[in-house]
Amino acid sequence: MSQHYQYDVLVIGSGAAGLTLALNLPDHLRIAVLSKGDLANGSTYWAQGGVAAVLDNADTVESHVADTLVAGGGLCSQEAVRFTVEHSRDAIKWLIEQGVPFTRDDTPNREDGGFEFHLTREGGHSHRRIIHAADATGAAIFNTLLARAQAKDNIELLQQRVAVDLITERKLGLPGKRCLGAYILNRNTGEVDTFQARFVALATGGAAKVYLYTSNPDSACGDGIAMAWRAGCRVGNLEFNQFHPTCLYHPQAKSFLITEALRGEGALLKLPNGERFMPRFDPREELAPRDIVARAIDHEMKRLGIDCVYLDISHKPAEFIRGHFPTVYERCLAFGIDITQQPIPVVPAAHYTCGGVVVDQHGRTDIPGLYAIGETSFTGLHGANRMASNSLLECFVYGRSAAEDMIRQLPEVGLPSNLPAWDASQVTDSDEDVIIAHNWDELRRFMWDYVGIVRTNKRLMRAQHRVRLLLSEIDEFYSNYRVSRDLLELRNLALVADLMIRSAMERKESRGLHYTLDYPEQLPTAVDTILVPPTYSD
Ligand code: FAD
Ligand code: SIN
Repeated sequence: MSQHYQYDVLVIGSGAAGLTLALNLPDHLRIAVLSKGDLANGSTYWAQGGVAAVLDNADTVESHVADTLVAGGGLCSQEAVRFTVEHSRDAIKWLIEQGVPFTRDDTPNREDGGFEFHLTREGGHSHRRIIHAADATGAAIFNTLLARAQAKDNIELLQQRVAVDLITERKLGLPGKRCLGAYILNRNTGEVDTFQARFVALATGGAAKVYLYTSNPDSACGDGIAMAWRAGCRVGNLEFNQFHPTCLYHPQAKSFLITEALRGEGALLKLPNGERFMPRFDPREELAPRDIVARAIDHEMKRLGIDCVYLDISHKPAEFIRGHFPTVYERCLAFGIDITQQPIPVVPAAHYTCGGVVVDQHGRTDIPGLYAIGETSFTGLHGANRMASNSLLECFVYGRSAAEDMIRQLPEVGLPSNLPAWDASQVTDSDEDVIIAHNWDELRRFMWDYVGIVRTNKRLMRAQHRVRLLLSEIDEFYSNYRVSRDLLELRNLALVADLMIRSAMERKESRGLHYTLDYPEQLPTAVDTILVPPTYSD
């Protein structure tokens, strides 16, 4: 039997963005925080490098703003960048108050101006401004925020709940366009339940699983972007998919990131013969922004026909390496690579979705009552290329500002009631799940081959042709069979892939992460790619 639930706030996603929002709402509100797998299954848990913020006395808001704008290839919203950076110190203060065990500075007279926590560097940053918990920052933040949320009586943390679609007034044929809740698949019962809420927040993370090789966990399927689009929200800049330059290249390592902080602390990129190549590509060498480093690696791999390049930090003292990068050290050692002695084989892999659901400074989408925060959203902060460690920051800043906005609006918003139950009367159990598995594989492979680091018109057209075929097959499957997590994710990924391809086709230039051989130059004016859904109404 499917169930009906009522909450003040429904938060779809239990990562940095979702937990921050929930913890910044007042205790008298009933809040549900959902995760489609276990609570730690988002990208947040896996974040390594840290959080960028203006913390060091010698650093300035102007400098962090300027670095972000440069990395973003002229496409960032100046307003969004300034808003985020100006709120960075408060966001970190809040995290420290929650108890996040950031690494302390054991060398007080260093260039970071005596700040009590250690600050590291990453690509694009002109200062040391990355606060971190060794090389497992995401786990430290997630565990702390989760423990805080678990201690609150008004927050219910529900795992194995997959949001299927949003419920809006428009969809129900009611006057208005407010979001009223969502249909949620309970994987424990197999039923689709109805969740009614005064406010709904999409905090579902990114869509990097659209690519065959990715640093992301399995949850990153663009569910929030797809649900928002179907409900009538605009999406922006989805052509900008960030490839992290350095993921471990090893047949048994599914997707293990080698943090950029290694390069921040002096690691060098090398060819198999030991020769460095980054100086040939950019004066910032190994600390150039990610798009440049990933493209340089891709170029060298194709030029030399090699499977990987190497990241070498073995010239640093072994004690320093083990102390700063215990996770990377242990993981590589498990694969027989001692990083204190030898270089690490690395390749680029899909890492971050720069575009997403169009939102304002409070995470408000085009639909009243619906918010999007964290990697799901498009705030304008990242432009054509996200600067390292700005994404966790965005989760905290916008999670907090969305909470403020909900609190302001609370007196005017009542609880919706009597929403119709999910109708499963026309569907049966699938007897052909092999189609889902096959389509998953096909989608991710052609996205990697045709919509990757280097693009062409022809490749994009091929990808579009294939994704449209898949979409029609998936639609048919969805109409006839009971929903499952795999089917829902495939449906969402294929839709987001289509939106990515359309966005890439609209951009007739190369800028930041979008590089095409047909338009290698950058146009003089930077314009966002905003796609408007057929169901959009102003
Ligand atoms: P996530 O943490 O991805 O959480 C998404 C949540 O949504 C999950 O709980 C998931 O179950 C849930 N969800 C998704 N779809 C549904 C659905 N349909 N129904 C119900 N629930 C759903 N950024 C930095 O700033 N610094 C770093 O050092 C850094 N390192 C990184 C290292 C790795 C390996 C990776 C993968 C990313 C890294 N990033 C880093 C990026 C950063 O971690 C992410 O952008 C950020 O954590 C996203 O947080 P989020 O809350 O938006 O989403
Ligand atoms: C890393 O540690 O290299 C990841 C940082 C990020 O994605 O911001």
